[in-house]
Amino acid sequence: MKKLLHINACPRGDESRTLKVSAAFLSSFKNTHKDWVVEELNLFREKIPELTARRVDGKYVLMGGKDLFGELKESWDEVIAHIDRFKSADRYLLSTPMWNFSIPYPLKQYIDVIVQPKYLFRYTETGAVEGLVKGKKMTVIASRGGDYTSEAYKPYDHQEPYLRTVFGFVGLTDMTFIVAQPMDSGAEELRKRRLEEAINQARELATVF
Ligand SMILES: Cc1cc2nc3c(=O)[nH]c(=O)nc-3n(C[C@H](O)[C@H](O)[C@H](O)COP(=O)(O)O)c2cc1C
Repeated sequence: MKKLLHINACPRGDESRTLKVSAAFLSSFKNTHKDWVVEELNLFREKIPELTARRVDGKYVLMGGKDLFGELKESWDEVIAHIDRFKSADRYLLSTPMWNFSIPYPLKQYIDVIVQPKYLFRYTETGAVEGLVKGKKMTVIASRGGDYTSEAYKPYDHQEPYLRTVFGFVGLTDMTFIVAQPMDSGAEELRKRRLEEAINQARELATVF
């Protein structure tokens, strides 16, 4: 069975606007992809491994083109488990609010844990980087208090460019963003309309995702 991994970086549960959009996506996805399983990784509930000094040492060993062994390897068990879980999925849904112009810290921690040489990317003989997550798609559902679509505010958006960069780096270049904004500023009516628009977009995209 094929698997959609829903990486959930929203701590507010039922109050979350981001998750309202994601719920519409998932309901539509399940209706149109009966033979798929959906697995959720809740980054605020599940314990994401810390990158301790020893684990960071492991990363430098891998970057040097060597394999992990002994205690260093053991210290990586939880890291590898998360990498395996990520790579076991065929497609990804990432739900995230904008926090301080970027992403919530557990999502950054998760990215720092899984983006590892040899596992998600590798260096070729010429020193170029090759992403190892190939042929997979990701939909990112985000919501923001403000609206970052104007030329004046675009430079403040470090969320979409960062996510495109880091997941593109590991080979995930087929990424679609659905962004509900503004959720906290502007007229109530506008906020409602923008949320509704994002929900409709999500419902539609899920049928062809
Ligand atoms: C810690 C924190 C930081 C935030 N930083 C920003 C920000 O930089 N820009 C912005 O537009 N909204 C910011 N917001 C507002 C959220 O992005 C907005 O309320 C979003 O819709 C929350 O998503 P949720 O309803 O799924 O929790 C922040 C909210 C929190 C809690």
